[in-house]
Amino acid sequence: MENSEILALLTPEGLRLLDEVPSYGSGADVLRVSAALRKAGHPPALVAAVLTQARLRQKARAKFGEFADRMLFTQDGLEQSTRLAVAALHAGRYRQAGIERVTDLGCGVGGDALALAALSLEVRAVERDPITAAVAAFNLAPFPNAAVEAASAEDVQLAPDEAVFLDPARRSGGRRVGADEWSPSLDFCLGLLAERPTGLKLAPAFDRTRIPAEVEAQWVTAGGETVELLLWSGPLQREGVRRSALVLAADGAPRELTGGADSPDVEVAPLGRFVHEPAGAVIRARLIGDLARATGAGMLSEGVAYLTGDVPLDSPFLATFEVQAAMPFDERRIARELRERGIGRLEIKKRGVDVDPAILRKRLNPKGDAEATLLIAPVDGKRTAILARRVSPAA
Ligand SMILES: C[S@@+](CC[C@H](N)C(=O)[O-])C[C@H]1O[C@@H](n2cnc3c(N)ncnc32)[C@H](O)[C@@H]1O
Repeated sequence: MENSEILALLTPEGLRLLDEVPSYGSGADVLRVSAALRKAGHPPALVAAVLTQARLRQKARAKFGEFADRMLFTQDGLEQSTRLAVAALHAGRYRQAGIERVTDLGCGVGGDALALAALSLEVRAVERDPITAAVAAFNLAPFPNAAVEAASAEDVQLAPDEAVFLDPARRSGGRRVGADEWSPSLDFCLGLLAERPTGLKLAPAFDRTRIPAEVEAQWVTAGGETVELLLWSGPLQREGVRRSALVLAADGAPRELTGGADSPDVEVAPLGRFVHEPAGAVIRARLIGDLARATGAGMLSEGVAYLTGDVPLDSPFLATFEVQAAMPFDERRIARELRERGIGRLEIKKRGVDVDPAILRKRLNPKGDAEATLLIAPVDGKRTAILARRVSPAA
């Protein structure tokens, strides 16, 4: 969405028209609605802006639910925004810490700021890009306890103990950039983390060696995807907690594993009746050892994030697969096994081996109505293919 399009929308006529346009999905609808609006005499540029916004709102429902219909978005702002269920967890941290006022330095279209404001915190939302700031102001307008400033984070005067939230932009010019190009800069963010109560959202794959030892690092898996790493400092971090894996289940309930440090792995066990795959957040937080001890499972192989045992496990922190056959990793042998079992729907997972699942799938060319999961990993030091039935539902 172009800047001029957003400005056209932020007018009484633009907003009225946007309210009138029903959400649409298919290309045919776009043409029909567009033609009808032009025929009604609305300027083509405004019609284009309204239709783009309606499309963004529809896309935004995946992150913001029905709130999306009352918000405005830029393409970039939507892509970079925190989904509401996760933003609510961030906001809850400030509440639990007894913090009443938060400055969000780089608020984007206001995903996190919205959740903070909804929990009645006093929110100062700062955004460098003026158009994005205008969008955030629109989205936060229902909250008298939130104010938006179009400014650079680096220029903002903060009171000595003022709490901040930071979600630096990890893209520039439409592409992902490395940590040293994030904005506000990583040094600026880590500086605030060290000096005041701070929540800092980073990419889940962020280099662990750059995580300050004294803060709490929390990885979040939502909808089966590991979406972020949060660093919490001061009263926002919990006593004795340095590592945490939070899994947001399909029912919306957060479940968490915490530890004081990376947990040592358990012993390797022989391949059992079941293989378990820990959630991404557990793997990133290096809490697999604690999870294994709590569930009685063993490691499938040293340094490889699969567990194994003889009982199925019902845990939000892992997915369980029932082993049907295990064989050396030999494509012809696997293809034969798939053929004999009529397996056409195949989920391929791998860890600790250099295999490209997309290429493998093409080569195996599975056909049939049955479904299975193929897990490829080293077992006893040999590349092994484990054909299994998924017991836990896919996220
Ligand atoms: C990842 S987005 C924030 C998303 C937000 N947390 C949400 O949920 O909608 C980062 C935002 O920071 C803004 N930004 C980048 N550098 C900034 C700076 N130095 N000062 C203020 N804002 C900045 C970008 O324009 C972008 O909108």
